[in-house]
Amino acid sequence: MNAIDIRNKYLNFFKEHGHAVIPSAPLIPENDPSVLFTTAGMQPLVPYLLGEKHPQGKRLTDYQKCVRTVDIDEVGDNRHLTYFEMLGNWSLGDYFKEESIKMSFEFLTKELEIPVEKLSVTVFAGDEDAPRDEESAKIWKQVGMAENHIYYFGKEDNWWIAGEEGPCGPDTEMFYDTGKEACGPNCNPSCSCGKYVEIWNNVFMEYYKNKDGYTKLKQKNVDTGLGLERMNMLLQGKETPYDTEIFKPIMDELTKIAKNDYIQSKRIVAEHLRSSMMIICDGGRPSNVDRGYVLRRLIRRMTRHLNKLGIDLNELPKLIELNIEVLSQMYPELVKNKETIKQVLIEEKDKFVKTLTHGEKEFEKVIKKMELENKKTIDGHSVFKLYDTYGFPPEVTGDLAKEQGYEIDMTEFNKLYKEHQEKSRLGAEQKFKGGLADQNEQTIAYHTATHLLHKALQIVLGEHATQKGSNITTERLRFDFAHPQKVTKEQLEQIEKIVNEQINRNLPVTCEEMTVEEAKKSGAMGLFENKYGDKVKVYTIGDFSKEICGGPHVTNTKGMGTFKIKKEEASSSGVRRIKAVLIK
Ligand code: ALA
Repeated sequence: MNAIDIRNKYLNFFKEHGHAVIPSAPLIPENDPSVLFTTAGMQPLVPYLLGEKHPQGKRLTDYQKCVRTVDIDEVGDNRHLTYFEMLGNWSLGDYFKEESIKMSFEFLTKELEIPVEKLSVTVFAGDEDAPRDEESAKIWKQVGMAENHIYYFGKEDNWWIAGEEGPCGPDTEMFYDTGKEACGPNCNPSCSCGKYVEIWNNVFMEYYKNKDGYTKLKQKNVDTGLGLERMNMLLQGKETPYDTEIFKPIMDELTKIAKNDYIQSKRIVAEHLRSSMMIICDGGRPSNVDRGYVLRRLIRRMTRHLNKLGIDLNELPKLIELNIEVLSQMYPELVKNKETIKQVLIEEKDKFVKTLTHGEKEFEKVIKKMELENKKTIDGHSVFKLYDTYGFPPEVTGDLAKEQGYEIDMTEFNKLYKEHQEKSRLGAEQKFKGGLADQNEQTIAYHTATHLLHKALQIVLGEHATQKGSNITTERLRFDFAHPQKVTKEQLEQIEKIVNEQINRNLPVTCEEMTVEEAKKSGAMGLFENKYGDKVKVYTIGDFSKEICGGPHVTNTKGMGTFKIKKEEASSSGVRRIKAVLIK
């Protein structure tokens, strides 16, 4: 059985048990700027866990693409991954503990044919916020779990919440006994020695947590998550996910072309290549902030380890192609976006090679100084200077330092980094204030022109050309959008022509308030939506454009002037920037 068979078995099983199969949401959350990536199957479902009606009903199942970056530095060991797939099933105020546990047990023992002796489970021990979960323990016993395979643990093990605030509750976790020897007489599923591996988590979400404490939700939900790569590895009796069909072909290829046989480096390359491909495929682009920086780090770390393996970086396109082929059945979208993925990855790799050459020279200087001063820890200022002036990421400095027997002072680096961030944040707020204070006839007209431009870009370049940023002054508009290459002169002319045609049609601009759902249904483009559940404003320009936006806008395109593109240039990898004016 391979990963895709497990996925299909899972979705079919829950479909047969009355669940609607919903598609995976993109890795980059659509309407939630507060998180970098989708980290769990429940994340795109939060509004429905809170009580909003889901169009597909009360029983849902899916596979969800996830990225978790907290363990990025652990990748290379035998289990940590930054990208993984989570299989999940949900009850939105429908079934609860009994049916959930029974279905999980049936799936594990009948569908996956795991012998019951190999399974152990944990349940919530209870505290001042919620009672001991004897109900779940009882159900586990009923279905056939031996009493000495049922464990009670506290909040740190058996309570689940995404972050600090949100829907949450006690959970019951299922563990697989690998058959390894116990590390001692007290070895149990909460032990990290490797004997027990967590395979599935069923969360009984009936609480909501905020800074004031816990309250009960309107409905009792079930949220479950099963890590596909891990299950696949266990069922195949493999020691690591790298030994399964998901990574094996790329690992073998790396072995073939590498000059050095560093297993950790091969794993890092294989893992980071897959996660960065998945992120790029869902619209992520490297940059110096937030999710763009995570992607940049992944690509840079991968490049570093290709170097370490002695692999010619010109092999990268071949490695990408091979990986797309390997993953094409699981993620057909990779095939569709193959050219973009290649282009973004290669461009970023090239950029990094330049940075490395400069940075490594600078790093050598730092090391010389250290030798002279007889120090073993590189101070945070030097690490920060390498980062700030030479674009040399601290993790690379750390890796290089380690190779030469040095450490780096990350505490001091982090302090300097925070100060630096605070400065740029203040700068950005200043700019933002200026922009809003400047709300006059001209900026309002530019705002409307931005919507016309956005739509025109999608018509001429394609639907991928979505907004990535916008900035308006009284002098001009500036608009960033996703597009992998330079926009040609002909395309720019066509875009200009479309915008001017629409302006000259004297189109009325109207505004309606509706829910996010209604807005989506109406076909409105939406990127900067308010938080879930809130009403949003949708601006419609004649029959041409419909977009979620805070406004304000002109009431009619009449008299906006003639739209002229002044400049088209790269903004960051895979993102282009247009500057344009309205001439009266
Ligand atoms: N949301 C739960 C988890 O991620 C199922 O473990």
